[in-house]
Amino acid sequence: MAKEQCNGCAAADDCSGCPSAPAELTAAQKASRVKNLIAVMSGKGGVGKSSVTALLAVALREKGFRVGILDADVTGPSIPRLFGLSGTASASEDGLLPVPTAGGIKIMSLNLMLPAEDTPVVWRGPIISQLVGQFWTEVVWGELDYLLIDLPPGTGDVPISIFQSFPVSGVITVTNPQQLAGMIVRKSIHMLNLYKLKNYGLIENMAWLECPDCGGSVHLFGKPRGGEEAAREGIPFLGALPLDPSLTAAADAGRIEEYRAEAFAAIADKIIAAA
Ligand SMILES: Nc1ncnc2c1ncn2[C@@H]1O[C@H](COP(=O)(O)OP(=O)(O)O)[C@@H](O)[C@H]1O
Ligand SMILES: [Mg+2]
Repeated sequence: MAKEQCNGCAAADDCSGCPSAPAELTAAQKASRVKNLIAVMSGKGGVGKSSVTALLAVALREKGFRVGILDADVTGPSIPRLFGLSGTASASEDGLLPVPTAGGIKIMSLNLMLPAEDTPVVWRGPIISQLVGQFWTEVVWGELDYLLIDLPPGTGDVPISIFQSFPVSGVITVTNPQQLAGMIVRKSIHMLNLYKLKNYGLIENMAWLECPDCGGSVHLFGKPRGGEEAAREGIPFLGALPLDPSLTAAADAGRIEEYRAEAFAAIADKIIAAA
């Protein structure tokens, strides 16, 4: 068994006889090689985790990397809609096949298996965690440089399962300038410390809105303070994004790959350098 598949133990190279040794690799895992597995987290809902995940995937793809997104927000999946994908996931002998976007990003989400994108998923935590686990063990991701995980809000079942059983390389944290968001986002940063996971840094989304009349900055959620917050938590500050109605429109139209987020080329470079 490949040692890097087991996050539970740093003691021995030989897993034989260990009660917590992971099962043999599945056919899908044998057919996959993911170099960097990066989770996008915030603790808080609605701050832009899914948008940041999608924009980062697009920026990495534009730089020529092989990229996938594992949508771990099972009850509130946004990723297929952002890329204009709908229920088309299929399977091969080895496992489930991710659906490629127009730009070649491989996506797996429960919403690619439901009869309609607004079919509700009314499942309890353990079932949700089990499905997310299968998105790692039963999906034929193939060769990927970066697999991004779009996490649900909170610090509960899904992030716990992922941090305990996936070989996560590190996490990106998303916040907005509101103090309320900051308080909840800090919980997720402190959760990473519990799991001794690398934090690639903080992205401050919705930091300002450009006034359409005067071109000045409107601070809808308060003065941007991402740099300050990151310094206080001892993590890198990756960059800030404005509130941009054309991003919302691109998301609704399923055309996030056509949206040009200036800040993301530099943010992607920082993550590539740190990964
Ligand atoms: N920078 C931004 N400018 C405009 N709209 C945004 C921006 N970031 C996110 N949104 C919109 O805000 C909402 C929440 O973003 P989303 O990425 O779904 O957050 P989360 O995944 O954290 O819940 C969505 O409707 C999204 O389209
Ligand atoms: Mg989301």
